[in-house]
Amino acid sequence: MQTVTLNNGVEMPILGFGVYQIPPEQTEQAVTEALAVGYRLLDTAAAYMNEEAVGRAIKKSGIPREELFVTTKLWVQDAPSEENTKRAFEKSMAKLGLDHLDLYLMHQPYGDVYGQWRAMQDLHREGRVRAIGVANFHTDRLVDLILNNEVTPAVNQIETHPFFQRTADQEVMREHRVQIQSWGGFAEGKNNLFTDPVLSDIAEEHGKSVAQVVLRWLIQREVVTIPKSVRPERMAENFDVFDFELTDDQMARIATLDTGSSLFFDHRDPAMVRRLGKVRLND
Ligand SMILES: NC(=O)c1ccc[n+]([C@@H]2O[C@H](COP(=O)([O-])OP(=O)(O)OC[C@H]3O[C@@H](n4cnc5c(N)ncnc54)[C@H](OP(=O)(O)O)[C@@H]3O)[C@@H](O)[C@H]2O)c1
Repeated sequence: MQTVTLNNGVEMPILGFGVYQIPPEQTEQAVTEALAVGYRLLDTAAAYMNEEAVGRAIKKSGIPREELFVTTKLWVQDAPSEENTKRAFEKSMAKLGLDHLDLYLMHQPYGDVYGQWRAMQDLHREGRVRAIGVANFHTDRLVDLILNNEVTPAVNQIETHPFFQRTADQEVMREHRVQIQSWGGFAEGKNNLFTDPVLSDIAEEHGKSVAQVVLRWLIQREVVTIPKSVRPERMAENFDVFDFELTDDQMARIATLDTGSSLFFDHRDPAMVRRLGKVRLND
């Protein structure tokens, strides 16, 4: 598997498997199938409510721990957030059945972000987490966090797909040595992504599917990607993207699809700030 090297030297697979919106009762099976296909990077979150099922699939697989790259995410914590963050981390670790994590992400740029980050830095220093990062940070918030803390986030996981390409954001992240990771690489199928004419033409030129073209495009941009599927045939299709290459012309044609805005929601929308800033997990 092709990898990227994070700013602290940790190697991360460029392609992994995401489990958002997979119901807990379906997750063990889905992760078991994904591991059988060959995925080694798994992306879950406390907020997805399926960490235990991910943990069971990992255990059952018998795959040596060092071959896996497991990510989970911290949900929004308020003060005293250093204490709360460590408690939330231990809860996730118990659910996953792991003694250390490969990547811990702050899920949202809300709550006591600085307190959360201090606690995450401690977990990193103590060797509980190999790398720490953030998700859904616009570049101004990201750079602010970098300038005012000791550890630079290794990763920023943000909405990135053909209709919201984030190339300028990626440039800023590159300058600060923060790895971009795509969530919603298929835009969850919005905007008729899977039948888009530009992507369909390119897919036909390679005898590949639109999904494969999108993943290939992300990988060629050095964007780590974590497609989600509950169907084994699609998991295999999404994994089979290392035997072809998009040309400069094809990359340029895909670049024309960028709308420059989210297909989901704006993290700066005051209504969203109010809503997400308040949501608490009650387990
Ligand atoms: N940090 C964050 O705030 C955040 C937010 C969202 C997501 N994420 C992470 O990013 C991961 C990926 O994003 P996502 O799950 O939102 O959406 P996505 O990967 O863009 O799209 C998943 C959708 O595409 C379908 N699909 C998958 N492979 C396909 C294929 N080859 N052909 C046609 N359809 C296909 C899936 O259906 P089937 O399952 O039926 O195949 C599902 O409906 C998540 O699972 C999660 O780990 C993070």
